[in-house]
Amino acid sequence: MDLPSTDTRISAELIRRAKGSTPIVCLTAYTYPVARLLDSHVDLLLVGDSVAMVLHGHATTLGASLEMMIAHGQAVMRGSARACVVVDLPAGSYEDSAEQAVASARRVVDETGCQAVKLEGGVAMARQIAAIVETGIPVMGHIGLLPQSVEKDGGYKIKGRTDENVADLFADALAVEGAGAFSLVIEGTIERVAADITRRISIPTIGIGASGDCDGQILVIDDMVGLTVDRVPKFVKEYADLRQVISHAAELYASEVRNRTFPGPAHVFSATNRSDA
Ligand code: KIV
Repeated sequence: MDLPSTDTRISAELIRRAKGSTPIVCLTAYTYPVARLLDSHVDLLLVGDSVAMVLHGHATTLGASLEMMIAHGQAVMRGSARACVVVDLPAGSYEDSAEQAVASARRVVDETGCQAVKLEGGVAMARQIAAIVETGIPVMGHIGLLPQSVEKDGGYKIKGRTDENVADLFADALAVEGAGAFSLVIEGTIERVAADITRRISIPTIGIGASGDCDGQILVIDDMVGLTVDRVPKFVKEYADLRQVISHAAELYASEVRNRTFPGPAHVFSATNRSDA
């Protein structure tokens, strides 16, 4: 099933039904202008908790709060009309109990109007996923390399390199599917394992550092457009070099301010011409 090319907002259910058809195009977005630019090109916008690192300069995604996610979720909803918008539940807002997870998911959906929430974890989070789904809120799962657990895991470690790891990944994927999630992000795994999981489960898999055989792909927008100033992971492809574009524009602006060529006649107001305001 192909996703609609109209202005109709794509639901989580439509994403679920897109398994096995045209690949599902996903990107993160955190702001109104970027959501406006991406909306017609993608099927799903994720307001990822990567916002804590990308826009707020935190060292890990643990810097994200529920308030931060809601503010960025509202901006992305205002800037989009077609994409299915999914907002991440940040670390500390859902792990303790199903009740905590439901309260956080409910708050995010009520205050942003987004289509779904995402949370990290498989077997360990199945109760939380099932409880949120039970209230009618669609959930996207996330397994493999889990950014919210990097401190606990001792760094960004690719998963699926040992038999035990592979078994855990399959168990996690099946637990997320069984709990009723509409889709599953698979991050930072061995290529073959992500492809095998994609064949095995009935909900779409969205890969990031996973496999071209996943049902869809996602990247962090700032990585994809070459705006990330630190080193980007191997799985990122930079489709533009906005670092260069922005620093070149800033250099030009600085020199024109210093030599008084900006503002020029086109950028100031005269007393006589009333049509230029
Ligand atoms: O927070 C995020 O941006 C994510 C994606 C990388 C999947 O979870």
